[in-house]
Amino acid sequence: MEYALELNDVTKKFNGRSALENVSFSVPSDSIYGIIGRNGSGKTTLIRLILGFLRPCRGSIQIMGRQYGASCTKIGYLPEFPDYHLLFTGREYLTYLAGLCGMAGSSAAAKVSELLEATGMTGAAERRMAHYSKGMLQKIGIAQALISSSELVILDEPFSGLDPFAQKELCDIIAGLRAFNKTVLICSHILAHLEKICGSVALIHGGHIIRQGQTSSLLRKRNNYIFDIEIADTKTLDSICREYGLGAAQGGVFVMSEKTPGDKEKVLKRLIESNARINAFYEVRESLDDYFNAAVAGEAH
Ligand SMILES: Nc1ncnc2c1ncn2[C@@H]1O[C@H](COP(=O)(O)OP(=O)(O)OP(=O)(O)O)[C@@H](O)[C@H]1O
Ligand SMILES: [Mg+2]
Repeated sequence: MEYALELNDVTKKFNGRSALENVSFSVPSDSIYGIIGRNGSGKTTLIRLILGFLRPCRGSIQIMGRQYGASCTKIGYLPEFPDYHLLFTGREYLTYLAGLCGMAGSSAAAKVSELLEATGMTGAAERRMAHYSKGMLQKIGIAQALISSSELVILDEPFSGLDPFAQKELCDIIAGLRAFNKTVLICSHILAHLEKICGSVALIHGGHIIRQGQTSSLLRKRNNYIFDIEIADTKTLDSICREYGLGAAQGGVFVMSEKTPGDKEKVLKRLIESNARINAFYEVRESLDDYFNAAVAGEAH
């Protein structure tokens, strides 16, 4: 597998106090990777190290397979607290940045129009940025992060200050970035959005990575199953519930924690034999919110 970003044993101290300790993770190319953690856990420090704004005290950072420092300009970046030249219109601002990235003339104009379109800002492109709402500024922030040919894009709290509708819009835009062949590293406290768009996440707590992996496998509650069924034969249902520990849950579904491998198949067989209608059968999945809270609570003990 190719990695856009690899960190090995990165440690950063401020005045002798560790902000990050032995942080290691790898971000596969063309993926969306989420960094989650409480306030002050070290997310922005991590981003500043990757961008080269800070130097690690120990450890190595590789970007696009190259050693730290060689490729800092190859990263698109939306800062946690962006600051814009508000007298520009959106189009003027992006055109100016395109120039800084070495584009000119019709190719710059085409790139800017493409990004305005992708971020839903075409209609407001000729207005001064001083008159933009917070959501519009965030969208221009995403557009400016995409203007260079950088394959890696880092977004620090892109949803902050946005209403739920604007958050959803931005979430869809970020999810669509893979179409631009971008690898995205994103920090956010809006875990429901990260759960939807991130293939993998790392959970950082007190400067340590305490969990990391593919979102789908982290959130699977292994050996816990949901049976969404309709059954007329209540006697058989009672007997299955007793024998296999099937229990009624909210929404009229049944849940089972499989004690012995193969139990779920036996339950399904019994249900089918008793003419039950099986609407759905699936493994229980935790929300990223619940997973995060449980992991952080576990660390606090
Ligand atoms: N330049 C600095 N000098 C001293 N301490 C710093 C500096 N930058 C960050 N820190 C400390 O490092 C720790 C991590 O801060 P950081 O900004 O990385 O957290 P964060 O996870 O981004 O938090 P938030 O969710 O609030 O944005 C904090 O204790 C912070 O006070
Ligand atoms: Mg931060």
